[in-house]
Amino acid sequence: MSLYRNTVWFLKGLREYTKGGYEAAAKHFAAEDLQVDVTGRSYMITGANSGIGKAAAMAIARKGGTIHLVCRNKERAEEAQKEIIASSGNPNISVHLLDMSNPKEIWEFAEKFKAENPLHVLVNNAGCMVNSRELTGDGIEKNFATNVLGTYVLTKALLPALEKEDDARVVTVSSGGMLVQKLDVSDLQFEKGTFDGTMVYAQNKRQQVILTEQWAAQHPKVHFSVMHPGWADTPAVRLSMPDFYEKMKNRLRTEEQGADTVVWLAVSPAATRHESGLFFQDRKPVSTHLPLASTHSSTGDEEKLLQALQEMSQKFAPTSCKL
Ligand SMILES: NC(=O)c1ccc[n+]([C@@H]2O[C@H](COP(=O)([O-])OP(=O)(O)OC[C@H]3O[C@@H](n4cnc5c(N)ncnc54)[C@H](OP(=O)(O)O)[C@@H]3O)[C@@H](O)[C@H]2O)c1
Repeated sequence: MSLYRNTVWFLKGLREYTKGGYEAAAKHFAAEDLQVDVTGRSYMITGANSGIGKAAAMAIARKGGTIHLVCRNKERAEEAQKEIIASSGNPNISVHLLDMSNPKEIWEFAEKFKAENPLHVLVNNAGCMVNSRELTGDGIEKNFATNVLGTYVLTKALLPALEKEDDARVVTVSSGGMLVQKLDVSDLQFEKGTFDGTMVYAQNKRQQVILTEQWAAQHPKVHFSVMHPGWADTPAVRLSMPDFYEKMKNRLRTEEQGADTVVWLAVSPAATRHESGLFFQDRKPVSTHLPLASTHSSTGDEEKLLQALQEMSQKFAPTSCKL
């Protein structure tokens, strides 16, 4: 089955996820969808110092939004901040240093942030594909810590701030790679079997899709969406998937093309005309499963994922946030 899934997925990718796929889809985009002025609204974007996150920050800054760049490296973050301010002419761009694989730090950051700032839109963009099994200082597998637990903690901790605002949104940057994985809650930290970074990443990205569906059901005041940016030429692809990059480098999307649907989901009134909790590609809701791929999960497993994340996140929560 996984050979079937991988083959069908790769052929779909060649048609839809490349630069050519973007150009074909873009013929049907409505230009007016992005003709918005978001002055006065506040956007937090994680992993915003490069790639899709930086391109999204730049586009939203050009529309007047106040941008909070959440990054782990001071130098890289301040370089991106300078570039965005210079190129957009928007001075309301700030940097916050945060390691998204450290749940305690995320809780502390979010509590302080909420007390000092409003937030209208959270873009969960930071992500990684670590190709060997490495643990964080807390003993959590690094991909899971960054892609899933970090996304969960930041979103949960910021929801009270988002729920106070009109038209609040959470956009999570997943990946079409998740289509090859069925949710597996039996081994969230990949302790069993051979460690395959690409499949671990795909499993994490499947979990982000399920989290989005669950959040949408639980928090009707906020619009949740999750998306696939296509295959874009970014540092993550160059460094984590060198063979794929070599084969595909002439067909990859630009960072701006990869960020297009992130920006649309974050700012456009057209995006929130769709129901909350959907998976998007090129400004359209798309299926979260390949045909005949048997990747549907049970409600029980989805609840187990939420339960596990809830328990893990509580271990690191400040006393005031313990349930
Ligand atoms: N490019 C694609 O084709 C593609 C396809 C599908 C999905 N995606 C998703 O798109 C998102 C953005 O990736 P990208 O392709 O634009 O790559 P990128 O340019 O390398 O961006 C990844 C960002 O995440 C940050 N990050 C990683 N681990 C972090 C941590 N522990 N704490 C804080 N920040 C962290 C990176 O910071 P540093 O600069 O400090 O490393 C960087 O800013 C990811 O979620 C990725 O999975 C990308």
